[in-house]
Amino acid sequence: MNIILKKAEIAKNTFEFLIRTPYVAQKCEPGQFVILHVDENAERVPMTIADFDRVAGTITLIIQDIGSTSHHICHDFNEGDNILDLAGPLGQPAQMGNFGKVVVISGGIGVAPVFPIARKYKQLGNYVIGITGAKSKEFLIWQDKMQSICDENFTVTEDGSAGEKGLVTDILDEILQHDKVVYVLTIGSVPMMKKVTEITKKHGIRTVASLNAIMLDGLGMCGGCRVTVDGKTKFACCDGPEFDAHLVDFDNLLMRQGMYHSQESEVYGCGGQCKCQAQ
Ligand code: FES
Repeated sequence: MNIILKKAEIAKNTFEFLIRTPYVAQKCEPGQFVILHVDENAERVPMTIADFDRVAGTITLIIQDIGSTSHHICHDFNEGDNILDLAGPLGQPAQMGNFGKVVVISGGIGVAPVFPIARKYKQLGNYVIGITGAKSKEFLIWQDKMQSICDENFTVTEDGSAGEKGLVTDILDEILQHDKVVYVLTIGSVPMMKKVTEITKKHGIRTVASLNAIMLDGLGMCGGCRVTVDGKTKFACCDGPEFDAHLVDFDNLLMRQGMYHSQESEVYGCGGQCKCQAQ
């Protein structure tokens, strides 16, 4: 049984689910994900584990209503409901170590997968700088949680409605002018991760990106999550989701992510408004 204990809308079209699933909570590590198959008619969707409590046997998932399946989960599932299948933990745990000064950069709900990784960096003795970006204030989540684990935490919005006005890369540029950063983690939209990578490459800073590729089985068999890293084919579900960002072919990833957009648009009924491309 995978029972939803709590559900809350924490930002525009964004829901936090607390799910009792003791085996996954016991085994998971920061950076790993689960695949949800919420009922017989639903497709399988990957969701990164945003938090976990081994004692309570719970995990936290942040789900944004951006497609047909996420819409179904966000609006038809409530506290007390059971999720038919929840497979995991899947994927490789995030790389860990005492690196020194680390910057973690997230866009939109990318802050959810960043949070447990950043918390572990901090526990291992790193100096952690967080940068979270969103289009506007209404799309920001978990800034209080990031504040609680980061040595410095920056918020940036495109319209200036919260934090500084601009992009996460503006803040990164500023930090790199005066700080000796040795490690960068980025999770968010592909264009954002690509831009972060271009900047850190110039500075020679080790950088990892957690890739949100299309996934079906999550076990390395379907090939849906193929990504190109250092000219070689890798599977984001079992080789990743974290990869050396300087070696990732982001243009290829962007192209593959758009493959099902027209079908999703038809099912979701967004009529080309591209809600399902919002990330
Ligand atoms: S999701 Fe099928 S191979 Fe990765």
